[in-house]
Amino acid sequence: MQEIKFYSGENIPLELHKVRVVQKLHLVPIERRLEALKEAGFNTFRLSTMDVFLDMLTDSGTNAMSDNQIAAMMQADDAYAGSQSFVRLEKAVQDVLGKKYLLPVHQGRAAENIISVAYVRKGSLVPMNYHFTTAMAHITDKGGQIAELLYDEAYVINSDHPFKGNMNIEKLEEVINYHGAKNIPFIRMEASTNLIGGQPFSIQNLRDVRAIADKYGIRLILDGSLLGENAFLVLQREEEFKDSDMETVIHTMTGLADLCYFSARKLSSSRGGGICTDSLEIFRELEAFIPLYEGFLTYGGMSIREVEAMAVGLYETLDESMICQSPSFIKYLVDALDAKGIPVIKPAGVLGAHVDAMQVCAHIPQSQYPAGALAAALFLISGVRGMERGSVSNQRDEYGNETYSDMELLRLAVPRRVFTLSQIKYVEDRLNWLYDNRELIGGLKFVYEPPVLRFFMGGLAPIGDWPEKMMAKFKEDFGDSL
Ligand code: F0G
Repeated sequence: MQEIKFYSGENIPLELHKVRVVQKLHLVPIERRLEALKEAGFNTFRLSTMDVFLDMLTDSGTNAMSDNQIAAMMQADDAYAGSQSFVRLEKAVQDVLGKKYLLPVHQGRAAENIISVAYVRKGSLVPMNYHFTTAMAHITDKGGQIAELLYDEAYVINSDHPFKGNMNIEKLEEVINYHGAKNIPFIRMEASTNLIGGQPFSIQNLRDVRAIADKYGIRLILDGSLLGENAFLVLQREEEFKDSDMETVIHTMTGLADLCYFSARKLSSSRGGGICTDSLEIFRELEAFIPLYEGFLTYGGMSIREVEAMAVGLYETLDESMICQSPSFIKYLVDALDAKGIPVIKPAGVLGAHVDAMQVCAHIPQSQYPAGALAAALFLISGVRGMERGSVSNQRDEYGNETYSDMELLRLAVPRRVFTLSQIKYVEDRLNWLYDNRELIGGLKFVYEPPVLRFFMGGLAPIGDWPEKMMAKFKEDFGDSL
């Protein structure tokens, strides 16, 4: 695998930007962090940023914006209909994503809702490389089911496979033959497969999926929320594209899909989202749902300022020296953790570093949510807020039974151009302490479990008094240090 080119000789990822606006952070004492965890039901989503030091919950809406994006927000053309800001956005989508028609939505899951309302029925099956929480929730909400069709290597934590997000082509064809093409409204390919560690697919794989979609007359839908980073890793890892550029790779990917939707909160360092297509027929099938669920067709539930920031952000996605920022910091963190023997998903992907809680917390059964426990423990001893991506993030089956996740991950998101290298080193240092003291981490249980997307607002409690014991050991080792 090629090295990322914006690294210095010492393997130091280089920031190709300067910081001109800063926000003060708070590093509160461990006693307060324990209280905050209790108030938040041991769920990092429910923490207040006043208690968080490094916010590695997500990259969604937290990537740094550029000076040009902020400047564009000032020229917003506020109008209910026919806004010039929308004209600029439509042009950006045509130029950057290569698609003619755009339907704006307020964020990625709104696109998933509209696509599911339009195409999913009771008995529908949607094959995909892997699910994303909100995509799955919208499909099952409309009576559909999903089939996850990754190759086995996708689940191997310690791997050097460059494209773990590839769809298993043989299984895809089997599933279509078994369920019947007429019951499959679309095939969903997710760029940089989020829940298995931000792992990309190759363009060759997408071409193979396209060939099967054509053979059976099924739509191919691309979730492009992490499209820029997937394209960047194609440039690094796919031989055919090693001398190519971001624009060519992105156009090649979107050109293979009938429809591409995205969360602009991730793709373009802004807010909002969109659905784009070259097909007038698809556009017409979805168009009426925009005013029904989102807002008029020239703002789709977004503020006009967000529309402007999205347009500029889309163009910036084509800049390799910008798009490399998050993957190169992630690679640095993954390499550092790996060198210390801390189990982490390899190869380094996009969005964040993903620590394998199944191994770190091998003593905690899945029924006691090892990834949730690891996320809580890391926050306690560092103020670093990660996100559970394991069984807490799974949804119960149709009979109400718990379904255990294939992987139990602690995701440490590295949004674009937000953290400094010393902050990343702090994360590495505290995780190292936690790994040495991992036997102190205990399990969690639900005390409040919402029926849908339970991980967002659910409340948990520790089993036993392990957080207090961990705090005592921390104070023994770190003294008065925060
Ligand atoms: N698809 C993917 C691949 C995503 O990662 C997300 C969001 C969505 C769709 C939904 O977009 O949040 O704008 O409604 N991912 C965020 C995350 C929430 O933290 O990974 P949204």
